Amino acid sequence: MIDKEGERGEMRKSNLCAVVCISLVAVWVVSCAKQKPPEAPPATTAKPVEAVQAPSQPEQVAAVGLAEQAPADAKAKVNPTKADAASLEDGKTLYTHYCAECHGVKGDRKGPVAAKFSLAPADLTNKKDMGTITDGTLFWVITEGPHKGGQMVMPGFGISTTDEEIWHIVDYIRTFSK
Ligand code: HEC
Repeated sequence: MIDKEGERGEMRKSNLCAVVCISLVAVWVVSCAKQKPPEAPPATTAKPVEAVQAPSQPEQVAAVGLAEQAPADAKAKVNPTKADAASLEDGKTLYTHYCAECHGVKGDRKGPVAAKFSLAPADLTNKKDMGTITDGTLFWVITEGPHKGGQMVMPGFGISTTDEEIWHIVDYIRTFSK
């Protein structure tokens, strides 16, 4: 009897040991998972273009296309900022942060991300196209992130920026086609 008790005791001990070991492994796994470095944050909060079906060749597009979707009152909206040095400076900082990865640092759509998408970003250096688009329309395009064929082709920045910041971006992107 005593021996059997002793045996059970041993078994209990080894069961306990197994439970402790499993728990330790579990804690280790969880802590490893936690230590995994966080994913690199995306440069912009929205990443809509990935959803666009990629054709074999990137579609070549004119600078102005989405602008046609802008409602009349948006087109007519007057830019309340003056394109002075301070506005352009702010616009440059914001543009570099939010737009350059697609449209390129100089607006020539040579951004590193542009090549990965099926639809080339608009060429902001195109004098002819940029000459036909109003400041109000630019404001609308940047705020809303318009769609093409039912899919968002450019993120809207209305959530992450103030109206004033968007006007600074408008002032700044005008310099690409001057
Ligand atoms: C994820 C890539 C991406 C980012 C980021 C992006 N764009 Fe675009 N943008 C595009 C694409 C794609 C188009 C569509 C080109 C077309 O319609 O042919 C476009 C179009 C435009 C147009 C032209 C609208 C028209 O009428 O065709 C303007 C102006 C513009 N973007 C400005 C900006 C500005 C300013 C920012 C930053 C605040 C920005 N974009 C950020 C990809 C991007």
